[in-house]
Amino acid sequence: MDKFVIRGGTPLRGEIPTNGAKNSALPALAACLLTEEPVTLHRIPKVRDIATMVQLLHAIGVRIDKKAGPLRIQAQSIANPEAPYDLVKTMRASSLVLGPLVARTGRARVSLPGGCAIGARPINYHLAGLERLGAHIHQEAGYVEARAPEGLRGAAFTFDRVSVTGTEDLIMAAVLAKGETLLENAAREPEVSDLVELLIKMGASIEGAGTSRILIRGVDRLHGAEHAVIPDRIEAGTFLIAGAITGGDLVVTHCEPAHQAALISKLREAGAEVTNAGPGALRVRSDGLKSVDVITEEYPGFATDLQAQFMALMTRAQGIALITETIFENRFMHAPELMRMGANIRLEGRQAIVAGPSPLSGAAVLASDLRASASLVLGALVATGETVIDRVYHIDRGYEKIEEKLARAGADIRRVH
Ligand code: EPZ
Repeated sequence: MDKFVIRGGTPLRGEIPTNGAKNSALPALAACLLTEEPVTLHRIPKVRDIATMVQLLHAIGVRIDKKAGPLRIQAQSIANPEAPYDLVKTMRASSLVLGPLVARTGRARVSLPGGCAIGARPINYHLAGLERLGAHIHQEAGYVEARAPEGLRGAAFTFDRVSVTGTEDLIMAAVLAKGETLLENAAREPEVSDLVELLIKMGASIEGAGTSRILIRGVDRLHGAEHAVIPDRIEAGTFLIAGAITGGDLVVTHCEPAHQAALISKLREAGAEVTNAGPGALRVRSDGLKSVDVITEEYPGFATDLQAQFMALMTRAQGIALITETIFENRFMHAPELMRMGANIRLEGRQAIVAGPSPLSGAAVLASDLRASASLVLGALVATGETVIDRVYHIDRGYEKIEEKLARAGADIRRVH
């Protein structure tokens, strides 16, 4: 199993480019199931979760040409509308094929995702929404079977709480349904709007993307299209925090500054300088940080996927920071590992109290999930001595060659096989 070996202390300088968004690419790949025509997707990051989704689409019978650059995907016929446990257990976003498969074939058999390091993460809203659209849902042997032999019917559905993939799954179910579907309390994440942009290019009729009220008018069929996914705001945010925590001068390029508003305001509140550095580029500099409180929220609030990285930052800030995690019930797995490096953190339920600045020292630490591992990399970049991070396969799920990007900006980081 790969490890990262990091020697801290070097301020990051120069430029780091951002890739296309993993959490946009995943629903975009699932959307290809909605048409028999080819769809070409650009800027798809080469990360493990994408490889898993490609494997799943292959298993379903989809043809994928992976020449250099864009992916060309064609679901001419769907031989096997099923998402097996072996794939779903490694990536719960596999449940994104549920809606498109039922909409296209009238049937889907998808393994239930089971537990996850950061929380229970059930898919009950996805199932309740499909039922509202007329699907018959049956659960057996760890699988959910959804059937709509006559096709889905448009309906109104309100989410009890905002769900990103829940919204995406039901939008994809509704685009081929008979009549109109109104989704209320829908997710407003940029990745949802990006999916809608692709679906409209494929011939769908959708209004309200980016708001909590989305109206979908079903159409008889969708056609092929070409689309470039948006930049990865979580990857870009991770690098902005890397620049701030190391006291460097870093430009993050190929990003969408408008998607970083919540993070930028917190970085500035902590005393970092964040400025525009040309189209699609943000410059971060910092020279001493002060503690600020953060509450994670649905977009446009502060992203839960940046909470762990921000906690690492707060270990180096002057004062007491209160970090409240409202989205997932178990998303502080990085805290004990940061404490092993010398951080002063107290956990109380969904709150973490971080006292700083704490001098961090290198140690052997264990990654537990994707964003927790990014937080450990950030801590290691400012720790004295050497840190060894085990199980970096977690980070490979969502960051493409992060060690090479950081090394180009001056970090002393290497991957050990
Ligand atoms: C998406 O997960 C992202 N994944 C997550 O990013 C991200 O953390 C999350 O949204 C929140 O922003 C992808 O887009 C592939 P939710 P998702 O449904 O859609 C509860 C990363 O690091 N809920 O918005 O699975 C749920 O348990 C990943 O890239 C139900 O109870 O999250 C959670 O507490 C991690 N029932 C809350 O809602 C449901 O049916 C929000 O979850 C659905 C969700």
